Amino acid sequence: MPLVSMNEFLPKAKEKRFAVGQFNMNNLEFAQAIAQAAKEENSPFIFGISEGALRYMGMEYTVAMAEAAAKTSGVPVALHLDHGSSFDVAMQCIRGGFSSVMFDGSHYPFEENVRLTKEIVKVAHAMGVSVEGELGTIGGVEDDLVVDEAAATLAKPEEAIRYYEETGVDCVAIAVGTAHGMYKGEPRIHFDIIEEVSKAIPVPIVLHGGSGVPDDMIQRSIELGVGKINVNTENQVVCTAAVREVLNNDDNVIDPRKYLGPGREAMVEVVRSKMRLFGSNNQA
Ligand code: 13P
Repeated sequence: MPLVSMNEFLPKAKEKRFAVGQFNMNNLEFAQAIAQAAKEENSPFIFGISEGALRYMGMEYTVAMAEAAAKTSGVPVALHLDHGSSFDVAMQCIRGGFSSVMFDGSHYPFEENVRLTKEIVKVAHAMGVSVEGELGTIGGVEDDLVVDEAAATLAKPEEAIRYYEETGVDCVAIAVGTAHGMYKGEPRIHFDIIEEVSKAIPVPIVLHGGSGVPDDMIQRSIELGVGKINVNTENQVVCTAAVREVLNNDDNVIDPRKYLGPGREAMVEVVRSKMRLFGSNNQA
């Protein structure tokens, strides 16, 4: 199956109250692990590509790996730019073969964020590419994006609703208290914001910083209208732990497959459990 826009599955997700996982792809092992998990769970999924990951892998390899994953998994797969910082990057990704882009203009004043998002939506939609926008600022560290937790601001529901109405994005990431990276304590999610915005707009809400959020909070967010959940750190943690274990136990290992293979296997289990938690299993 070729790469698809998120509109292949997000409207159904909101209607049937499940969420599709965005799993960040950082290298070949991530691509393979996520695709294998999706095949086993018969679940649609989204490959999230940060600008840092795109620089690391290169456009050609990124698109080719995502296409191979879509072909071998047999489920709907969107290749999505995560936290795109500009019109130019979004256009490069669309031209390169991405089926979806996020524009993160959350650090701009509201009117400027709307104006820039609209420009991207106009071109993307003409090309059949879906768009995610962001309102409020999500704290934590995600590659190039570093937002001090104290500087993170929650989304204002009325602004989020107006942002959707004026831009026509296909899903909206709103800052509701989650953060990129692992949590020191438990996150405090503002479910009231999710509920108010979700009731007022037809498209799903996106929850960033999905790693380490307790299962009951994830389930409640989905019931209230979250239809896309982003996960990266948990995969990085289990992959690195597995690699480290092999290297710590054997000073002579030099074949990368001997340590990357266990890293890949560990991620399959994480992704499968997230797909079941999000309810996207058997929704392909
Ligand atoms: P985590 O790394 O906290 O799972 O967040 C991922 C994310 O939101 C990517 O945009």
